[in-house]
Amino acid sequence: MLVLGVESSCDETGVALYDTERGLLAHRLYSQVKMHAEYGGVVPELASRDHVRRLLPLVREVMADAGVARSDISGVAYTAGPGLLGALMVGAMAARSMAFAWGVPALAVHHMEGHLLAPMLEPQPPEFPFVALLVSGGHTQLIKVEAVGRYELLGESLDDAAGEAFDKTAKLLGLPYPGGPELAALATEGVEGRFKFPSPMVDRPGMDFSFSGLKTAVRQAVQAMDKELTRQDKADVSLAFQTAVVRTLVIKCKRALDATGYKTLVVAGGVSANLALRAALEEATTARGARVYYPALSFCTDNGAMIAYAGAQRLQAGESSASAVQLKARWPLTELRVPQA
Ligand code: KG4
Ligand code: ZN
Repeated sequence: MLVLGVESSCDETGVALYDTERGLLAHRLYSQVKMHAEYGGVVPELASRDHVRRLLPLVREVMADAGVARSDISGVAYTAGPGLLGALMVGAMAARSMAFAWGVPALAVHHMEGHLLAPMLEPQPPEFPFVALLVSGGHTQLIKVEAVGRYELLGESLDDAAGEAFDKTAKLLGLPYPGGPELAALATEGVEGRFKFPSPMVDRPGMDFSFSGLKTAVRQAVQAMDKELTRQDKADVSLAFQTAVVRTLVIKCKRALDATGYKTLVVAGGVSANLALRAALEEATTARGARVYYPALSFCTDNGAMIAYAGAQRLQAGESSASAVQLKARWPLTELRVPQA
């Protein structure tokens, strides 16, 4: 089964073709980062308009890359939430229109299910069941995953998401948007030990997260310096911030592995591209005879491939979405069910 996937939930237009026999055939991504950088964050209306401009050319390109004709495509999957409603609407309408014109089913995909299943695109995919740490700009969640559609929430952030904490801290340090990767890059120049921030929530039981206190600690440390920060100051703060976040994420992942008894950890979402987090999780899982899996770096952040893959799993089971488009700015992952016709 050959599925066209469309992602447009935020500031990236992603299109991909996934075949359940042959794997990922082609994928293309257009990032609007430069456009939004001028404003220091995503401007929803501009995002929607740009998806309109980019989407269909990207569809043409992936079809040409993969050498497939319209008649080869057996279903179209699109992100239906969570995300920016206007941006989602562009992808949904384009996807549904193509499916209608081609006489194939269309399927609404949950963006976070896309992230969660992205490691399945790797040559050595994880096997069910596993614990998933979803760390993106909007979510920080630990999920017990028994199968596609069988998700149990173990813990989540009570305030900011991990990616959001990275972005806000980067903004505080005057780093360009999008802050997460910038802060992570600068942290490699940081001197360890100059700043020490508390790792939020590690002394409390459970698997929930909270990052707003850490954000405040960083702001206070910056204010206490009372001067124009040098590159080294920023690097030192970045390193201490990243260390605190990573420590929290690692401790909660260990708790989730303990609570479930699972030996497999999957990490996905934009922050899973963070190399310090990867190194720390690698060490923590190896030490307990467990294994950690990630998507390829290019599929950690938003992309069409993960939507094509997640959609294909559900379309293959005969699932399709009613023709009235229903989009959700908020949509708990645990509302999803096992794929069924
Ligand atoms: O999954 P994603 O592309 O979009 C959402 O669904 O939110 O995640 C984007 C988030 C942003 O907050 C970005 O700063 C963060 O992921 N991010 C990183 C890194 N790369 C992306 N955070 C830390 N280190 C990175 N290397
Ligand atoms: Zn995302």
